[in-house]
Amino acid sequence: MSQGLITVSYIAAIVLFILSLGGLSNQESARRGIIYGVVGMLIAVGATILDPGVVSIPIILIAMVIGGYIGLQLAKRVAMTEMPELVAILHSLVGLAAVLVGYATFMDPNNELIGAEKTIHELEIYIGIFIGAVTFSGSVIAFGKLSAKISGSPALLPARHWLNLLVLVFTFLLGNLFLEGAVDGGGTLPLVMMTLLALVFGVHLVMAIGGADMPVVVSMLNSYSGWAASATGFMLSNDLLIVTGALVGSSGAILSYIMCRAMNRHFLSVIAGGFGSDGGGSAATFEGEVTPVDADEAAEMLATAKEVMIIPGYGMAVAQAQHAVSELTKTLRGKGVNVRFGIHPVAGRMPGHMNVLLAEAKIPYDIVFEMDEINEDFPNIDVSLIIGANDVVNPSAQDDPNSPIAGMPVMECWKGNTTIVMKRGMASGYAGVDNPLFFKENTRMLFGDAKVSLDAILKSIK
Ligand code: TAP
Repeated sequence: MSQGLITVSYIAAIVLFILSLGGLSNQESARRGIIYGVVGMLIAVGATILDPGVVSIPIILIAMVIGGYIGLQLAKRVAMTEMPELVAILHSLVGLAAVLVGYATFMDPNNELIGAEKTIHELEIYIGIFIGAVTFSGSVIAFGKLSAKISGSPALLPARHWLNLLVLVFTFLLGNLFLEGAVDGGGTLPLVMMTLLALVFGVHLVMAIGGADMPVVVSMLNSYSGWAASATGFMLSNDLLIVTGALVGSSGAILSYIMCRAMNRHFLSVIAGGFGSDGGGSAATFEGEVTPVDADEAAEMLATAKEVMIIPGYGMAVAQAQHAVSELTKTLRGKGVNVRFGIHPVAGRMPGHMNVLLAEAKIPYDIVFEMDEINEDFPNIDVSLIIGANDVVNPSAQDDPNSPIAGMPVMECWKGNTTIVMKRGMASGYAGVDNPLFFKENTRMLFGDAKVSLDAILKSIK
């Protein structure tokens, strides 16, 4: 393929990637966005393989078949609830690729650059390997935390901020040594030392973050993986990789910022880690009487209500109850009840988790609202139905300054007439904090698996 054709293909792929991101910002256009992305990626991979600089197409094709097969098997097997773990481990592969490409480029015997160009190239390699190594080890730790193989609570070393600063100073000094050494063919030792330091840095950075801040970490690692890909693009002089990496890097950073705002966190304090563990005081614990109800009573309350707000959470995903929710919504709407959904930005375990499940169960988009759109409506709500949500409806985020989730905006369902909470027992949610909502006078607890309870409610209403 001629260089001109490759450039045109790259531009087409970039335009398709931008259209894809635009499409994904809205549920109605998301499917179209995915198609743009897939076509863009096919063009990008095709044009890259046909580049005259590629040494062996068969080797690349064999690697693609093996990698594609492993990816397909993993994607088939992974449950919706394990998606964040999968995303985290995939980010680690981008980081690892940046490190490997960096070393391969550094050792490339055909590199004939000299003078300033050579120095800039070495600098690209150094920065690329640093970002790649931090992304790799950080993502592996994030995977461990999300899959509960490592404790989810923040592990804080004393003077951790100073340690981080020290690592950055050493990285800078080693970079100097590397560039000096690389002038006459050396520099391997400082490069290897920096790589090891960056790996430790990634571990330390993510170990210090925990609890409800983990979603931000995943999206931040997404951003890092984009910058790592971009750095790889610089090393390989591949414009498409530079632009695509920058798109991923900046969209990941924007998403992290939006999520921080939704959780009332400062971006920098999340990244620096240890949020909620420096406070000194301890979160209040709650004891008291809860008022249980059975499915028939819940059905009666729902069927006689005028305004119902459904707030789904992680438990709905665990119970795979979205189809039962859809059925209940249809039945209640058929009886003239105004049913709406309120979605907290971090409900579930990944951005848009609840929206994906509700869309899968064909719940109409126009009755699904973001938290900001409906939080003021709760005083007019007759029944709020909380399906496997916990942290996102915890009033202590507003009332208890010592709570680990203090300051996080929450769905204010307790302001409505009655709240029905569906969960299996009194266990806490992801952030591991008690929820005083369960003990409020207007709260009723419907214990049991969400799907089983919803089926029973449906049977009773019908
Ligand atoms: P959580 O606070 O995690 O609470 C989920 C609740 O569902 C649990 O208390 C559990 O109680 C219940 N549950 C589990 N399985 C169930 C089943 N089969 N049937 C019925 N209930 C079941 O969920 P949330 O309110 O959605 O909040 C999300 C939390 O995850 C936030 O802290 C958020 O920061 C964090 N997080 C979010 C993301 C993103 S980006 N969305 C990513 C990672 C972490 P029982 O065990 O008593 O049933």
